[in-house]
Amino acid sequence: MAQKNLKKKAIFITIEGLEGSGKSSVIGFLEDLIKAKGFSAVVFREPGSTAVGEKIREILLDKKNKKLSCHTELLLYLAARTQLIEEKLVSAFKKYDFVICDRFFDSTLVYQGYALGLGRIVDRAVKIFSLGIIPDLTIVLDVEAKDGLKRIKNKDRIESRPIDFHNKLRKGYLALAKKYPERIKVIDAQTELAQIYERTEKILMNKFNFIRLRS
Ligand code: TMP
Repeated sequence: MAQKNLKKKAIFITIEGLEGSGKSSVIGFLEDLIKAKGFSAVVFREPGSTAVGEKIREILLDKKNKKLSCHTELLLYLAARTQLIEEKLVSAFKKYDFVICDRFFDSTLVYQGYALGLGRIVDRAVKIFSLGIIPDLTIVLDVEAKDGLKRIKNKDRIESRPIDFHNKLRKGYLALAKKYPERIKVIDAQTELAQIYERTEKILMNKFNFIRLRS
């Protein structure tokens, strides 16, 4: 798909973080806040939010798939993303004021690129298969890996990886945030929910001033 087809009116926000970092609550809060201000919003998740993407998600998270290779894993995440972009995101960008995505390419950079160690190949592949889409704002919910994992009862294939993998994820996210300070904002997600929401609202208002003007 040519990049010129990607004209968008929407603001694209992605939420990232370790396992058990509380992405769902923050996304719910963000969606309600944006709608309460009179803007339209839609939420997607990655991998998923399309019929094909949800099937790919099942393969990726199924603990029985012990032989899934690192490169196959990478390709499946990219496939689910490309499907979401072409099937849903491109039209959503034209229709809604805000598009919110539970994870996007930063997950691939951190999980497959950094923690799995696929490195450069991931950088290149992510660039190609994100079809020119870059989030306007990315919020990283920062928790200690072991504390996030404690919150999860039935661990899936990725969550069941050794603690070293999860510790690397945290390092990876913080390094990315340092590299792209304008786009990526980190929130301490190990504090009270009210404080996390307050910080989320502040980040949103500071970044997109026009939202303040709506009562
Ligand atoms: P979650 O969105 O419910 O957290 O589940 C998605 C899982 O897939 C999570 O463990 C993070 C992982 N993931 C990757 O490893 N690479 C990716 O590119 C994406 C989008 C997710």
